[in-house]
Amino acid sequence: MTEDDQKLAAAKAAVDYIKDGMVVGLGTGSTASKMVDLVGARVKDGLDIVAVPTSEATAEQAKGLGIKVVGLDEVSVIDVTIDGTDEVDSEMRLIKGGGGAHLREKIVASLSDQMIVIAENKKMVETLGAFKLPVEVIPFAASALLPKMEALGSDPVIRQKDGKDFHTDEGNLIIDCAFGAIDDPENLAITLSTMAGVVEHGLFIDFADVVLIGTDDGVEKFGG
Ligand code: 5RP
Repeated sequence: MTEDDQKLAAAKAAVDYIKDGMVVGLGTGSTASKMVDLVGARVKDGLDIVAVPTSEATAEQAKGLGIKVVGLDEVSVIDVTIDGTDEVDSEMRLIKGGGGAHLREKIVASLSDQMIVIAENKKMVETLGAFKLPVEVIPFAASALLPKMEALGSDPVIRQKDGKDFHTDEGNLIIDCAFGAIDDPENLAITLSTMAGVVEHGLFIDFADVVLIGTDDGVEKFGG
C-alpha cells in the first residue's frame, strides 16, 4: 500500500462516523482533502450535513463539492471533526500545522464533541518532535520570538513559501521549531501558550478521541 492508499483507507474509515443531521468539522491537508472528497460524494448521494472548514482551502474544496459550509456563528456545536496530523504518539498527542492551519484546526477541534484523526502509518511516532513544531505568531513579534524559541532548545525558522514569508489564513506567521525529541509535550505546550505574541502552537494534547491509521494490513484504530 502506498502512503496515499493508507491516507485514503483512514479517510474512508473516518467518514463512516458521519451521520445525517450532523455538523462536521473538516480538517486541512492532503489526508483531510481525501476525506472531504469522500464527504462530497456522500452529500451527492443524499447525506444531509453542514460543515465547518478549518481553512480557506478546505472551504473552497467543500463548496466545490456541494457541501454546505457554515461559520462558527451559525452552529452551536460541532458533532465530529475529522483532520490529519503530522505526528501522533501512543497517547494520541499530536503535532499539527504542517499545512499552516493549526490555529483554526484547534479552534474547531476544541468545539467538537469528537475529534477523529486520520493518517498514514509513518505519522505514528514513539516520541513527538522529529517533525518541526509549528508555532503561529503575530508578525510584529516574530523576530523577537526567535531567540526565545531558541532558548527553549529548538532551532527556529520563520516559514517561507515561494521565497516569501508564509502567512496563515489569519494573516500571521509560522515559526517552525526543530526541537528533536519532545520529552514533556504538556509542559512545552503550557510554556508556548504563555508567551506574548504566540497565537497558537501545533501541539494538540487531549484533543484526539479516535485515531485511524492506514497500514499495509488495514486501518488500525486507537481510542474511541
Ligand atoms: C495542517 C495540518 C495537517 O493535518 C497536517 O499537516 C497533515 O497534513 P497531510 O495530511 O498533508 O500530511 O495540521 O495544518
